[in-house]
Amino acid sequence: MPNLPPALETLLAHRSIRRFTEAPVPDEHVRLAVAAGQQASTSSNVQAYSMLRVRNQATLEKLVELTGGQTKVARCGAFFVVSGDTRRHRLLAARAGVPYRTRLEGFLVSTIDASLFAQNLCVAFESLGYGICYVGGLRNDLASIRELLRVPEGVYPLFGLCVGVPDEDPAPRPRLAPDAVLHEDLYPDDAVLLAEADAYDDRMRSWYAERGLETTWSQRIEKQFSEVHRTDVAEFYRAQGAELD
Ligand SMILES: Cc1cc2nc3c(=O)[nH]c(=O)nc-3n(C[C@H](O)[C@H](O)[C@H](O)COP(=O)(O)O)c2cc1C
Repeated sequence: MPNLPPALETLLAHRSIRRFTEAPVPDEHVRLAVAAGQQASTSSNVQAYSMLRVRNQATLEKLVELTGGQTKVARCGAFFVVSGDTRRHRLLAARAGVPYRTRLEGFLVSTIDASLFAQNLCVAFESLGYGICYVGGLRNDLASIRELLRVPEGVYPLFGLCVGVPDEDPAPRPRLAPDAVLHEDLYPDDAVLLAEADAYDDRMRSWYAERGLETTWSQRIEKQFSEVHRTDVAEFYRAQGAELD
């Protein structure tokens, strides 16, 4: 499509970057991206998120270990931990002497808020020419993350984020067709959902084959959800003060 607005060009060019040069990300770019992240919509303006930049090299090396050996965590321009964050709200309630009450809805609000913040932030970094990669591996061992980063009650670490100057240039990964996720008026029949998955598999089979993998998207989804992962996260977030009922 010719002459797209630059914001759309940036969004459509996204691909995760997993190899970075050693160039650091200057503070002014970080502040600009944070401001863009903060301008994301936020439920009732509660702004229930925060982000920790980890600079200490020993801590970064430990985070490589805790994220399952993801060396990019210590080899990028800047590494961040994004959290749903209700700490400030709790402090305000305590200072005012009023109760702080929450249920699963409150946890969802902070998770959604943090994700919207992070995605705006990522697009800002990408529009400045950086590459990014989310690191869900941060949830492999949340108890150790809590200890390592001294995460207080009311803070829910959700994912890490690598940012830096790309040292690779992978092609964007194709997605399901827009019509496979955009439904009109009524939710479609299951047969339609499966047909769209089959059409995607036809496209992705060659994409994986070009990368030496004999698989399809469906096969990867089947495998991904054939067993449960990170079974301790509910217990962890409860211990952090989240109500999950
Ligand atoms: C919340 C979240 C967690 C992720 N965790 C990891 C991770 O731990 N390691 C990694 O290499 N990529 C991770 N990714 C990147 C995804 O694998 C990637 O976005 C997806 O495969 C689509 O590819 P693309 O971003 O290149 O389009 C994560 C993405 C998200 C949104």
